[in-house]
Amino acid sequence: MPNTPYLDKSVQWRLQTGNLAFHELRYREVAKAILESGLATDVVSKIGSGKEADVYFGHLGSRRVAIKVYRYYRTSHQGMGPVKAEGLGQVASREFELLSYAYVGGVSVPEPIERDEQMLSMAYLGTQEGPAPRLKDVRLEAPGPFLDEVLRAVERLAAAGIVHTDLSPFNILVHEGHPWLIDFADALRVDRLGQSPWERLTLAQGALERGLGSLSRHFARYGLQLEPQPLVRRIVDRLDRFGLMR
Ligand SMILES: Nc1ncnc2c1ncn2[C@@H]1O[C@H](COP(=O)(O)OP(=O)(O)OP(=O)(O)O)[C@@H](O)[C@H]1O
Ligand SMILES: [Mg+2]
Repeated sequence: MPNTPYLDKSVQWRLQTGNLAFHELRYREVAKAILESGLATDVVSKIGSGKEADVYFGHLGSRRVAIKVYRYYRTSHQGMGPVKAEGLGQVASREFELLSYAYVGGVSVPEPIERDEQMLSMAYLGTQEGPAPRLKDVRLEAPGPFLDEVLRAVERLAAAGIVHTDLSPFNILVHEGHPWLIDFADALRVDRLGQSPWERLTLAQGALERGLGSLSRHFARYGLQLEPQPLVRRIVDRLDRFGLMR
C-alpha cells in the first residue's frame, strides 16, 4: 500500500485547481514529462525500479542516457514518513549534486548530465541489449581484483567528500567488467563538516561499517575475506581533521 501523501497548502491548491494531477504517473506520462523537460529526445523503456524512483533508458540525440524519476510514493522506506510532494525536486537535485562531486572526484559513477524537477539524467551504463547488471545478479570471474576496485572507489569517494549510505551489491553495477557505484540519493556529505563534525563522522562511520559489511558478506561467497574495520578506521581518520573520533 502506498503511503498517504502529505501535501503542502500550495500543492493542495494546485490539485484543486487542476494544475496538478495526484496519482502516480503512468509510463506514457513519465515519458512525456522526460521529453518535455529536454532530458532526453526519446524514451525507450523502464530499466529499473527501486524504493523511491524509477529509472528509464532513452537517448539524448545520439547519446544513451538513464533518467531517474522520483515517485510521489515510496513503496517502502524504513523509518521514513510519507513523501512531501514538493520535496522531490530537492531530492533529485541533491542526488545530482552528490553524483557530480563523485564524478569530478574521479569515482566510477555514471556521468551526471542534467536535473529537472524530480528527474535527473546521467550516462547510461549497459549496451543496446540491456542495462549493466547489478553486482548481486552477476557471477564474477575475477572477484578479488573486482573487490579491490570497489574498495578503491569507496576510498576515492570519501576523498571527494562523500560516503555512500546504501552501499551493497544492489547499488553496484557491473559494466565492462568494472564496478560502477550508483544511487546517491541518501549519501552523506563529509567535506563541509558544518556545525557538528562529530555527528557527521559518526554517521559516516556507521554507513561505512554497514556498506563494507554488506560487501564482506557478498564476497564471502567467493571465499574472499574482507575485514571492514581497518578500512573504516583509515577513511574516518582521514576525514577527521580535528581528531574528534580518536
Ligand atoms: N546509469 C544507469 N545505467 C543503467 N542502469 C541504471 C543506471 N542507474 C540506475 N540503473 C538501474 O536502475 C535501478 C534503480 O536505480 P537506483 O538504485 O539509482 O534507484 P533506487 O533503487 O530507486 O533508489 P533507492 O535505492 O534509493 O530506492 C538500478 O538497480 C539499476 O538497475
Ligand atoms: Mg538502488
